Amino acid sequence: MRSVPGNVILVGFMGAGKSACGRLLARRLGRCFVETDDMIVARDGRAIPEIFRQDGETVFRRLETEAVEALGLKSDDVIATGGGLPCREGRMEALRALGTVVWLRGDLDELLARARRGGHRPMLEGRAPDELESLYRAREPYYARAHLTVDTAGLGIDQVVARILAALRESHARV
Ligand code: S3P
Repeated sequence: MRSVPGNVILVGFMGAGKSACGRLLARRLGRCFVETDDMIVARDGRAIPEIFRQDGETVFRRLETEAVEALGLKSDDVIATGGGLPCREGRMEALRALGTVVWLRGDLDELLARARRGGHRPMLEGRAPDELESLYRAREPYYARAHLTVDTAGLGIDQVVARILAALRESHARV
């Protein structure tokens, strides 16, 4: 789709489907797919849970800053970000400067169920349901600064990607 210039950047909570939808979206658009978590792992040499366990969250967030800086080299990619990456001051602005930012918004119970099924996520560990809800609510205002919001509740990957493509087409037809 040449009518969507620049990168497409997916943001959202853990379990939002950023990786699965991003991969399919990239295929549909004929673009490369990049994940900030993969960039961090490739650069640091350790898996994400290991970074959290050995060095803590603060160090991981610093590695995310470096990943955002490195994203400046990308021009026409689909980029999936880690769930906490956009949630510090200045981050959404930095992402918005790189292309079209899309928030994959979901139902919290559904997001958590999916996040728990898929791999080890340090931010879920040892957090009670009300703490996870607080984390989600604290993050929502950041995600809400995306250019576009796509509701994913109850939808499969194909349907979400169809919605993203429709939203991208519509927003770029307007400019
Ligand atoms: C995190 C989400 C993870 C990963 C790290 C921290 C978070 O990515 O970046 O474990 O703070 O929400 P996903 O959103 O792909 O699970």
